[in-house]
Amino acid sequence: METWINNAGFGNYSSVASQDLSKIEAMLKLNVEALTILSSLYVRDCKEVDGTQLINISSRGGYIMVPNAVTYCAAKFNVNAFTEGLAHELKAVQAKLQAKVFAPAATQTEFGMIANNVSEYDYGKSFGNYHTSAQAADFLLRLYDSNQTIGAIDGETFEFSLRNSVFEYAGNSAHNQKIIND
Ligand SMILES: NC(=O)c1ccc[n+]([C@@H]2O[C@H](COP(=O)([O-])OP(=O)(O)OC[C@H]3O[C@@H](n4cnc5c(N)ncnc54)[C@H](OP(=O)(O)O)[C@@H]3O)[C@@H](O)[C@H]2O)c1
Repeated sequence: METWINNAGFGNYSSVASQDLSKIEAMLKLNVEALTILSSLYVRDCKEVDGTQLINISSRGGYIMVPNAVTYCAAKFNVNAFTEGLAHELKAVQAKLQAKVFAPAATQTEFGMIANNVSEYDYGKSFGNYHTSAQAADFLLRLYDSNQTIGAIDGETFEFSLRNSVFEYAGNSAHNQKIIND
């Protein structure tokens, strides 16, 4: 079955006051703009194709604000909200494409080096708990095999779980603008 995964992304640890704006601009372009455009094109092409999935790789920082990573988290909140909203939109029209979001917590990759602008980064020293990339890949496969929208990591236990929504959705409200189906 064909699946499109938007995985490319990077982070930045800094206060808003002192963040490097050219790095922030590149981060928003990659983490938000490219992901939104590529998702939209895939939805357009595959909405009615049996068995297709769109999986956006976001972050636990897309559900909780992390100190010193506010701009990165805000970008990932966008990814989580966009993907959850898209999943609702697709379900409402019984589309064949499923939209899903994976929200990993700290995972040992090159992310730490890039986010901190350093050439070496020790996850063991920096985090009380973290996953290996093999563990993250296993979580992603569990999300892929499920009919649920979100694969998330619990901040306390570091356990993986599947769920259908986190953000509130106004889909059943009588006060929304009328939907014109295309
Ligand atoms: N590791 C964590 O702790 C963690 C936690 C939560 C969420 N995430 C998310 O997981 C995803 C994968 O990150 P990772 O942990 O695997 O980090 P990584 O090892 O640094 O990998 C980042 C990936 O993004 C690609 N990339 C970076 N800048 C790009 C650009 N401007 N254009 C196109 N591709 C670009 C890289 O491609 P090249 O190899 O070609 O440079 C690489 O494949 C990201 O969306 C990240 O936000 C990571």
